[in-house]
Amino acid sequence: MSLVVFGSLKEAPGVTTLVACVAYQWPRHRRVAVVEADADGGSLAPRFGLNPERPSLASFVAVSRHGLSEGEFWSACQRLPGGPAVLVAPGGASTGAALEQMDFGALDRCLRDTDLLIDAGRLRAAEPQARLYEEADFIVVVVRPQFESLALLLDRAEALSARRPLLAVVVGDGTYPGGEIDSALRQTTGDRAWVLATVSGDTRGAAALAADGSRERALRRSLLARTVRPVTDLLVHLCSAGPPALSRAVSA
Ligand SMILES: Nc1ncnc2c1ncn2[C@@H]1O[C@H](COP(=O)(O)OP(=O)(O)OP(=O)(O)O)[C@@H](O)[C@H]1O
Ligand SMILES: [Mg+2]
Repeated sequence: MSLVVFGSLKEAPGVTTLVACVAYQWPRHRRVAVVEADADGGSLAPRFGLNPERPSLASFVAVSRHGLSEGEFWSACQRLPGGPAVLVAPGGASTGAALEQMDFGALDRCLRDTDLLIDAGRLRAAEPQARLYEEADFIVVVVRPQFESLALLLDRAEALSARRPLLAVVVGDGTYPGGEIDSALRQTTGDRAWVLATVSGDTRGAAALAADGSRERALRRSLLARTVRPVTDLLVHLCSAGPPALSRAVSA
């Protein structure tokens, strides 16, 4: 179904936390998998107590040498505790090599009834990251509402939204309200990028999501989960409708 790439431009604004929370909230009637593709190393395995290597993106790429198979993909996935499937990629040389080889567009076409939520880490303009988000139906960029982050967002927004919508999720408090960021993004990109939602800063909620004893309650009650809910609902809506045809062709 859809390929949604999540990433950041600066610092660690909460991409992995957002992807995990969205994946837990994804509706049961849609098949979903989280895939780690952070060149600096994914953190889901250590954070959620999963096996970092067996299986992983690297082992999946190794068995996919002669073509992608849906069965091999699901065999390579683990599960977030009590939650969705995840293909982990904890970093290091083997993850780097796997990311070089992985064709995410082909994976999306192979998994026709699955929404793929990719944690891409930092959205670098260079390969292989650029190749990954070229394939996306939607890019979700996570930002803190602070000057340095927003300046970078406005600088990259035109290129990142050239071929598909760029959706910003603003995390935590800062000097700039979501409405202002939304207007600036729309103006810069001709309505190809906008603020999807604002997620509250909630350190306890973010930590509780990763802890076995408190996860269920955090997913039901935390400020984090409550403010991530509109992100999930809007993304599901966009994924159901499919990416809109963008009117202006700009090279990325
Ligand atoms: N909404 C939030 N409110 C408060 N703290 C948060 C929030 N989201 C994430 N955090 C905390 O911020 C830290 C970084 O979060 P996370 O790992 O999700 O960010 P990231 O952008 O994926 O970072 P990296 O680039 O290192 O992968 C973690 O300690 C996490 O618990
Ligand atoms: Mg991360």
